[in-house]
Amino acid sequence: MKDPAKLLILAGDGIGTEIMREARRVAEWFAARPGANLMLDEALFGIAAWRAEGAVLSDATWAKIEACDAILFGAIGSPDYDLIPPERRQRDSLLRIRGELDLFANLRPIRLIDALADASTLRPEIVRGTDLVIVRELVGGLYFGEPRGISDLPDGRQEAVNTLRYASDEIERIARVAFDLARTRRGRVCSVDKANVMETGALWRRVVQAVHDRDYGDVALSHMYADNCAMQLVRDPRQFDVVVTENTFGDILSDCAAMVAGSIGMLPSASLGPVMPDGRRQALYEPIHGSAPDIAGKGIANPLGAILSFALCLRLTLGRVEDAALLDRAVEAAVAAGARTADLAPAEAGTLSTREMGDRVLAELRRLAE
Ligand code: IPM
Ligand code: MG
Repeated sequence: MKDPAKLLILAGDGIGTEIMREARRVAEWFAARPGANLMLDEALFGIAAWRAEGAVLSDATWAKIEACDAILFGAIGSPDYDLIPPERRQRDSLLRIRGELDLFANLRPIRLIDALADASTLRPEIVRGTDLVIVRELVGGLYFGEPRGISDLPDGRQEAVNTLRYASDEIERIARVAFDLARTRRGRVCSVDKANVMETGALWRRVVQAVHDRDYGDVALSHMYADNCAMQLVRDPRQFDVVVTENTFGDILSDCAAMVAGSIGMLPSASLGPVMPDGRRQALYEPIHGSAPDIAGKGIANPLGAILSFALCLRLTLGRVEDAALLDRAVEAAVAAGARTADLAPAEAGTLSTREMGDRVLAELRRLAE
């Protein structure tokens, strides 16, 4: 038998701990299924690691990251990061994992579960049927560009610099991910930039168009300015199939699109590296929401974004497509049966704790698998 696939859980900060506890229970359920061949491990990351190991991301954790087949990540962010010297923060953060593993392709599917049409702040008739994927470039642009930093000016003022830079091959490889994905869906890509203002946008547009014209004539390509895209996402989200964009726009637009799905707590993501010669690729799966320090430790956070991230892992790293579909269906069934954490329900309605939501998904899994 092949070596088992190694899945490393990094719960991280804030609500990361509580949501990942539920994601882990779900992962264990799948690991126990016939033929699963999956091994789970866990390591400290974030403030807890800083306290216990003197580093947000210790060498021991880094060794596990390098040895695993995929990471299931919770959340990063806490007011306590102020305790850490700024240069350590940057070097030890989630961005280091993204950068060093070259996880350039960030897939953020935004699909409204029909039963949640009323949970969105947008009208149900606008959001019903939404099913789009934001493909966000994840290891370039402002997040990584050099030079960067804050410096003192001779006249006593301070100055801060970040750099937005994209080379054509970086644009090309993310465009290919978007076009390939569109071929498995409804065959449409909308590329988002600020070509009207920025050279990076002009190059982005030109390269995406050229890749399309050369190799993806069967996919329908359109271009949109990022500001307009923010508006279109809330005006008429159903117009989108695959949206491809650079790092910072993808960050902002995916939070914006999240409200279409009822709550940011629902949304999973996959961050993938280049395909290696043996066909494998590095991968990190995480909910797109943050660490939510305001509700951390209360046991009320929505674990579904984390659980659905594991479903993406089943599909994209473990090749367990049927298991992934089973998990998607279990989450839908739980929600359709009325399971709601506080973020999904009006204040007066009864709500489930993080643990209870995990229980409901597991109960649906057992029922559906019978
Ligand atoms: C995200 C998050 C991260 C980002 C933060 C936590 C660094 O907002 O994954 O969208 O900005 O990329
Ligand atoms: Mg974000």
